[in-house]
Amino acid sequence: MNSKKEEKKENETDSCLLKIINYQLKTNTMIITFATQKGGAGKTTLAIAFANYISAVSERKINVFDFDYQKSFYNKWKEDEVSELPKLYEVEIAGDEQRPFSDFEQLIGLKESKDVNVFDLAGTLDEKYSDLLIYSDVIIIPFEYSDVSVKSTLVFKNVLGMLESEAERIFIRSKYDKGYKYLNQKEMDTEISKYGMLIESPVFKRNCLQTIDTRKLTYEQKYAVKNPFNEIIEYINEALQTTI
Ligand SMILES: Nc1ncnc2c1ncn2[C@@H]1O[C@H](COP(=O)(O)OP(=O)(O)O)[C@@H](O)[C@H]1O
Ligand SMILES: [Mg+2]
Repeated sequence: MNSKKEEKKENETDSCLLKIINYQLKTNTMIITFATQKGGAGKTTLAIAFANYISAVSERKINVFDFDYQKSFYNKWKEDEVSELPKLYEVEIAGDEQRPFSDFEQLIGLKESKDVNVFDLAGTLDEKYSDLLIYSDVIIIPFEYSDVSVKSTLVFKNVLGMLESEAERIFIRSKYDKGYKYLNQKEMDTEISKYGMLIESPVFKRNCLQTIDTRKLTYEQKYAVKNPFNEIIEYINEALQTTI
């Protein structure tokens, strides 16, 4: 009886210790992943805009990991090497054949740093993403209200549920057309709000976002993303008890 009690106590101490360690990791850490199953939803555009925006408003160092085999973020960053403006962050290719990034140790390594680690994912659900989706602190999910997008978004939400990812889920309306009446918006918003934070301000459809680069945000581009991004930052700071 006694030994059972002791065992129970030991287990409780263990789980308490784990909680503390977890908390410490959480407070220092930041893995922000842009993901959804739908290609063309605006992940890379928003990931670039977000990394640029954070480097302007935060003291923290930013690292970007391009997990998409198409390497859009990385290629853009490489192209921008001709720019006279200073580099805002490094971009690494992840999940590549040569540089596999499914390694849990490596992810945990990231979690111990005070850096903000931004991941840009492909529009496919690959098994190699599982660890990342589980150990991300925040998953930012851009979505639109078209029928295909709605379906992909809900499938993706189910995938996160199946992986038992505890990441904060942030849904953001992408390429939103102010003049269009989205018939399924109300219903979709109610559904999405059950599974995460739905950011109030949308990212509107803006031509200026089609020419985004990794060295700057133009005045127009900043204007296009600042409301939703400020909401996201505020939410992350609150949820993770941290300051980006
Ligand atoms: N808010 C926006 N307004 C206008 N065009 C956008 C916006 N967001 C993304 N795009 C365009 O949509 C296309 C797909 O965006 P992208 O960021 O590559 O999506 P994903 O990474 O999810 O595949 C690109 O041509 C991009 O320039
Ligand atoms: Mg992309």
